[in-house]
Amino acid sequence: MKKVYVIGTGMTKFGKLDQSGRELAIQAAKEAIQESGIASRDIESTYVSNAFGIGENQLHIGPIINSALGIPEVPSLSIESACSGGSAAFNQAYIALSSGYYKVALVVGYEKLSMNKTPENTRYFAMASDHWYEGINGVTFPGLYALMASAHMHLYGTTEEMLGSVSIKNHRNGTFNPKAHLQKAIDMETYLKSPIVASPLKLYDSCPFSDGASALVLANEDFNFEGQERIEVLSSARAGSRATIQDREELTGIPGAQIATQKALKAAGIELKDISFAEVHDCFTIAELMALEDIGFFRKGEAGKATLEGQTAFDGKIPINSSGGLKAKGHPISATGIAQIVEIHDQMLYKVDPHRQVSNPSIGLTHNVGATGGSVSINIFRRSR
Ligand SMILES: CC(C)(COP(=O)(O)OP(=O)(O)OC[C@H]1O[C@@H](n2cnc3c(N)ncnc32)[C@H](O)[C@@H]1OP(=O)(O)O)[C@@H](O)C(=O)NCCC(=O)NCCS
Repeated sequence: MKKVYVIGTGMTKFGKLDQSGRELAIQAAKEAIQESGIASRDIESTYVSNAFGIGENQLHIGPIINSALGIPEVPSLSIESACSGGSAAFNQAYIALSSGYYKVALVVGYEKLSMNKTPENTRYFAMASDHWYEGINGVTFPGLYALMASAHMHLYGTTEEMLGSVSIKNHRNGTFNPKAHLQKAIDMETYLKSPIVASPLKLYDSCPFSDGASALVLANEDFNFEGQERIEVLSSARAGSRATIQDREELTGIPGAQIATQKALKAAGIELKDISFAEVHDCFTIAELMALEDIGFFRKGEAGKATLEGQTAFDGKIPINSSGGLKAKGHPISATGIAQIVEIHDQMLYKVDPHRQVSNPSIGLTHNVGATGGSVSINIFRRSR
């Protein structure tokens, strides 16, 4: 297998934005190409993720992005994998580059949601659940994660304050990320008093609906590097779980995340203790606690207490979601998995605000979940030497 590097990153601000989805995608792609220092014509393939382009009457956006970049002849692949689409696109590019099929690839993820109101977006998102068992019966994503939160609270004594400590930490980190959707610190009182969305989950347990785009330029070791700042991809693994949560043996974790983590660690040739920081999929606060336990940073039922103690703060034992996470940075579905990698890259190159810079960004992990875990991606990165 050939070594693969991230050599350029691009990311728009996340939030309720004026631009169209295609404008956002093209902006992020151009930024990544500019940062990488390559010429657009060096790109051999483009991997684009988007889930809700239908809302803008636009599917098959790859050729549109490539045309805007002046490379209409370059092939593109459109990828949808619910909330993990960005990292699924990254994984496809990684496979092509590590096998030596291509030397340079562009990965783009984008979403435009703000033209819809919350009820419409909630209904669209529910289409990523199992329609005939879940969606058709009125289950929404806040509802599905609320079931998991209830089970975790019941079995492990996880408290509202523990969930709140995830939100407070991520909102705090988001205030130091100029691209975050919600740049507002909150305290426990604000968290506890916030309105219920799907009991026990409240407003401040939930990520917002965001517009945004992110992009990466990847190159393998055969590329003629000219001093590009880069980070190495140590591994990229994906796994699945039973689509319908009623079919799972437990509700308090995501089997695909556990499997993908083991695959990623093995492929990277490292142990979990070597990971120094991570970006995980906190679509709801309970999802961050389950991620920490599925990956294995904490034993089952202990992530809440650890978060309350500050162990996952940017200056804690294992910094988690220094970007603000999906909770505060925002969650433009298909841009999310790629934006997590942008954060790992920027942390490793000391490009972030010192108030959220982790002290030892040597090996970083991203954890990105599609729906309730039907698809999961785990990627591991190392500062390039
Ligand atoms: C939480 C939620 C119900 C709030 O929706 P809403 O009440 O319609 O909120 P609006 O979009 O009208 O925004 C109202 C205000 O709340 C803020 N807000 C919206 N969502 C927020 C969130 N998740 N956290 C904190 N503040 C939020 C907005 O910024 C806005 O503030 P402003 O008035 O100061 O501008 C909605 O964001 C939601 O359903 N989130 C979950 C998304 C989801 O399921 N994603 C898939 C994950 S698998």
